[in-house]
Amino acid sequence: MPRILTGITPSGTLHIGNYFGAMRPAIELQAGGDAFYFIADYHSMTSITDAKERLAYTQGIALDWLACGIDPAKAVFWRQSDVPEVCELTWLIGSLTPMGLLERAHSYKDKVAKGISPNFGLFAYPVLMAADILLYDTNVVPVGKDQKQHLEMTRDIAIKFNQTYGEGTFVVPEEKIQEDVSVIPGLDGQKMSKSYGNTIEIFGDEKALRKKIMGIVMDSRTPAEPKSDAEKNLAVQLLKHVAPAEVALDLENRLRAGGLGYGDLKKALFEHYWNYFAPYRVKRAELVANPDYVEQVLRDGADRARAVASKVMTRARKACGLR
Ligand code: ADP
Ligand code: TRP
Repeated sequence: MPRILTGITPSGTLHIGNYFGAMRPAIELQAGGDAFYFIADYHSMTSITDAKERLAYTQGIALDWLACGIDPAKAVFWRQSDVPEVCELTWLIGSLTPMGLLERAHSYKDKVAKGISPNFGLFAYPVLMAADILLYDTNVVPVGKDQKQHLEMTRDIAIKFNQTYGEGTFVVPEEKIQEDVSVIPGLDGQKMSKSYGNTIEIFGDEKALRKKIMGIVMDSRTPAEPKSDAEKNLAVQLLKHVAPAEVALDLENRLRAGGLGYGDLKKALFEHYWNYFAPYRVKRAELVANPDYVEQVLRDGADRARAVASKVMTRARKACGLR
């Protein structure tokens, strides 16, 4: 069975763009592989400097993922910092990583262009990510398009290490870029993203979320007017994700024909969204009431992850003459 690995950075509250774009595909992959999923708390250090905030996001993301369907019997789920060998491996592979490779990283260049004053962690981010992947003999890494370059860098680093210190030291991973997952639009029609403040959270307060959805701005056409561009309507697009296909299509057709008001359409969107996540809310509430269980899942996950990591570390240390 191929080992599938991916990391989730705890840098904010998860929204339905994250759910449909990243979480649901990863949860579905649990059935077909040896799934290794971790909370990338070390990676959050380049963007968050508040200790309480980091802990809260890490805890929140653990709850969210378990509530949405990570099954600890199928997937190994852990906190990155519980297996600190990843930092040791970062040094081993970082010492072979050319500056030029890191200087070409889009995510780094974008952040610098935005005026963020770069530090070593931000520059070394792709090396830590490569270590995450190589430490667990990963075969496949499912990620969004924005991570494609990081995956290419990981392959380059693995190949160079193998050439320098011995073929077979690291498994060279394959990327699995999720092109088919459509970009979920946010409340303003742009890509839903926590950086744009246009999110619909997966979990949150009912009243506040209803208000957000009812507040989506639409045009000034009257309810009676037929809308030939119904498929472009934001609520219609979101409904396709949260409502059964025939219900979403029926609402789209009614909008196109005229007679369905935007208020009613948004109400339908809210109801379907709220119902879609209802079972996950129940599960999450159970988990919140049981923090020891959640901690135990993460610790067991770390033990299982470490069992693999220590074998790979032994191989890597030996290969480069450290032992
Ligand atoms: P954000 O843009 O809110 O900061 P992240 O960059 O942390 O989100 O994304 C985490 C994961 O969720 C990535 O795999 C990304 O591809 C996916 N994702 C984020 N926003 C969307 C979206 N609007 N539609 C589809 N997938 C998304
Ligand atoms: N950098 C990834 C992101 O921001 C998170 C991540 C860290 C990751 N380490 C990883 C993803 C290893 C895949 C594999 O989304």
